[in-house]
Amino acid sequence: MHKCQNTRPDPIIAFDVYGTLIDTTGMVELLRKHAGNLAEPLSTLWRQKQLEYSFRRGLMRAYRDFRVCTSSALDYACLTFSVSLSEDERNMLLEAYRKLPAFGDVSAGLKQAQEAGLRLFAFSNGTASDVGQLLDNAGISGFFLDIISVDELHSFKPDPSVYHHFLSRANAKGKDAWMVSANPFDVIGAAAAGMQSLWVQRSRELIMDPWESGPNLTISSLAEVAHVIAGWRNNQQQNP
Ligand code: 2OP
Repeated sequence: MHKCQNTRPDPIIAFDVYGTLIDTTGMVELLRKHAGNLAEPLSTLWRQKQLEYSFRRGLMRAYRDFRVCTSSALDYACLTFSVSLSEDERNMLLEAYRKLPAFGDVSAGLKQAQEAGLRLFAFSNGTASDVGQLLDNAGISGFFLDIISVDELHSFKPDPSVYHHFLSRANAKGKDAWMVSANPFDVIGAAAAGMQSLWVQRSRELIMDPWESGPNLTISSLAEVAHVIAGWRNNQQQNP
């Protein structure tokens, strides 16, 4: 029997930025000069507090952009580890945060995804200008159709409204749009807002939050994005 032709549009992919495309642990070497062997825990706490501040600001409806979350979190981490920075040193670290490197698998993974006909967007808590600078600096901005920032809505992930905003800006339906993120809160948040979700489990030790629902798909490297989404699509076409 003749199968119906699939008329679904090419999938839209929302790539999370910090922690998924861009390696926030890239600050550890710079921090070593100020914090010695505390550089690693300081960097980890900096990132954890940055995210916590974004969650809290979202819930409190006390929006200040992601740079403010980043700089307050750096101050908190330095106070915790008794590291004192001059104004110049602090500015230098925050400037370096805007030039963090991409993970090694990113460029080739994005190229494959683009060649497979996926429509790629960067979707981040960061402002469009900060994300643009990061992607330019990492040499990957050309892969994206657009940068969509929560700053346009003055809230933060995982507020469902920011994922709805993404879908509206990308002119997509949730069933055709994937959130690709290494951050479990982002994966769960996007799925709860009706998007498809793909978790990038960058190391085996990383754990998905044991909530009532998890990602649709899990991969360990961005090199797998094009392949697993093609497989998912074929499966959907055969079992609509
Ligand atoms: C981002 O939105 C969650 O930090 C992550 O880029």
